[in-house]
Amino acid sequence: MGLYETQYRESIEKPDSFWGRAAKEIAWQKPYERVLDDSNPPFYRWFRGGMLNTCHNALDLHIEQGRGDQNAIIYDSPVTDTVRTITYQELRDEVALFAGALGRLGVVKGDRVIVYMPMIPQAAVAMLACARLGAVHSVVFGGFAPQELAIRIDDAKPKLIVSASCGVEGKKVIEYKPLLDRAIELASHKPEHCIIYQRPQVSSSLVKGRDLDWGEATAGAAPAGCVPVEATDPLYILYTSGTTGIPKGVVRDNGGHAVALKWSMKYVYDVQPGDVYWAASDVGWVVGHSYIIYAPLLYGCTTVMYEGKPVGTPDPGAFWRVISQHKVRALFTAPTAFRAIKKEDPKGEYLKKYDIASLKYLFLAGERLDPDTYHWASDMLKVPVVDHWWQTETGWAIAANCMGLERFPIKAGSPTKPVPGYLVEIIDENGKPQPRGTEGLVAMKLPLPPGTLPTLWQNDEKFKESYLESFPGYYFTGDGGYFDSDGYVYIMGRVDDVINVAGHRLSTGAMEEVIAKHPDVAECAVIGVADDFKGQLPLGFVVLKEGAAKGEKAIMDDLVTMVRDQIGAVAVFKQAIIVKRLPKTRSGKILRSTMRKIADGQEFKVPSTIDDPEILKEIEGSLKAIGYGAK
Ligand code: COA
Ligand code: AMP
Repeated sequence: MGLYETQYRESIEKPDSFWGRAAKEIAWQKPYERVLDDSNPPFYRWFRGGMLNTCHNALDLHIEQGRGDQNAIIYDSPVTDTVRTITYQELRDEVALFAGALGRLGVVKGDRVIVYMPMIPQAAVAMLACARLGAVHSVVFGGFAPQELAIRIDDAKPKLIVSASCGVEGKKVIEYKPLLDRAIELASHKPEHCIIYQRPQVSSSLVKGRDLDWGEATAGAAPAGCVPVEATDPLYILYTSGTTGIPKGVVRDNGGHAVALKWSMKYVYDVQPGDVYWAASDVGWVVGHSYIIYAPLLYGCTTVMYEGKPVGTPDPGAFWRVISQHKVRALFTAPTAFRAIKKEDPKGEYLKKYDIASLKYLFLAGERLDPDTYHWASDMLKVPVVDHWWQTETGWAIAANCMGLERFPIKAGSPTKPVPGYLVEIIDENGKPQPRGTEGLVAMKLPLPPGTLPTLWQNDEKFKESYLESFPGYYFTGDGGYFDSDGYVYIMGRVDDVINVAGHRLSTGAMEEVIAKHPDVAECAVIGVADDFKGQLPLGFVVLKEGAAKGEKAIMDDLVTMVRDQIGAVAVFKQAIIVKRLPKTRSGKILRSTMRKIADGQEFKVPSTIDDPEILKEIEGSLKAIGYGAK
């Protein structure tokens, strides 16, 4: 039996021994009583009784172990022409000071703090300061509109919000403060304070009594120490798109998270403490939480915080420049970033200008890695291109070719095998396990490993309903896929109403809720259609009311603006088709997956429950007219 097989088996058959060993890498203030607490299924908790502090493990511990002068963060911002390095010692001091400032404003263990920030080191400082105090951060991606931020404020009920005056998106400067003010206006819950980091590009006006400038908030604050928390206490809440307009508040605990992420750095990513690790994502997404901030710091690496794009900042050589300048060992990004580079520099001319010998691996996740992009990246970089599959809910990889464990031959289109800890199975709609080679629903046998979501924020019922109830004993991932005869898993895409646009997870249900508010819209459906560049794009189908007040073009423009203003530019909702009717089942369910198959030119069966099959022909015709469907 190979190393992978022994480790994998142990993780499933003897999780206490497997994860107990991994937990030795973490500094515990009080040892845990048991590794896995399975006394209350379907809720499982890891390292119950143990106490630790995640910030201590990510910063102070490394200083104690002699890494104080090593860079913790390299902030590389081509959009502001800045490179700044921050050592572990400096970062710990900044974090302790900011934690002191938060504490002075009344933030204590268990309080929530929303962080609405661009990709600047202060975002990391704010997150780690919360962890230091045992406060629960909830980072909201800067590309979300005020309405989305307001929904998260009302759910998390933060005592305080940390934000910045602006973000810099390529050549655009986006003012954050007016968006924050608007969100607070829209929300029913009001934070007591906001701390605003004023960037040189924009100086925001502050609301007297509520808002404090970052410098003012930290001036004279006493550095705070690390507050021990229970392993099972929440470290953060990260909202993610579900099938409705209400996002789900994924909870991450402290103990299991620290153990699993530290394990993953060695075994999935094959890096060593001291190496430079770069996840080109955003702190607003799970990849940013896990692999820009927590995992590299827990493991004593140097993490790169990159405020730029793969192209246009200034050119498609941007990634190669960062790799060569900072000696990056492992790069992690979404396939869409590589499609962006390939589109602008298909022959890799820019790559020739840089020495990227430090790069040993490219890891890709966030959406399906199409074989074309895999081959291109692999030919260009000549290092292993490792596809791995995970979700906001799991916080780390479910399936991967674990580079630090045992390397398997890469098969384009597959993220290889389940990572130790995850018992992945393919089931049918009745929950019956499917043999290798048969496509079905991808589920995981409970319990999930440490680091994965223990529940949704203050909503155990929704947690059960969303993930556990459809197939008792399993966590349902929402993805479809299959295993091949060698045990490689293939993830073919979501089977629900979640879509993935440029590696960004979005809900078509949320877009439908916005569109349905238009006074001339009688009914609508939004589906994700395949796109060569962004993976998927949302496409709307709209049935207008009789005697609509506005013309079709004006309505379309309204819908595009409404989605942009209410969800955010990141939704990239640019197109809708006006149709006479929507295809439905006899019970009134809109046949979105059939519409998606038609749009993507895939084979589809006319569902036996369809109300009127003729409508599908009309939909096919409308899609063809704008270039979708079978070629
Ligand atoms: N704040 C404000 N607006 C933002 C934003 C942010 N943090 N992030 C994106 N937006 C805006 C963009 O400016 C764009 O606005 P526009 O319609 O006015 O042009 C819109 O949201 C759509 O953004 P995006 O889909 O990212 O398109 P893009 O053309 O700007 O960039 C890629 C495309 C592929 C280069 C970029 O999405 C990318 O690098 N993705 C891969 C990495 C990644 O983020 N992965 C996430 C999980 S791993
Ligand atoms: P997110 O929660 O934003 O990480 O999105 C999770 C979803 O992205 C998964 O449920 C998958 O649909 C998709 N996804 C992530 N990584 C991969 C991958 N490597 N291959 C295929 N799909 C992926």
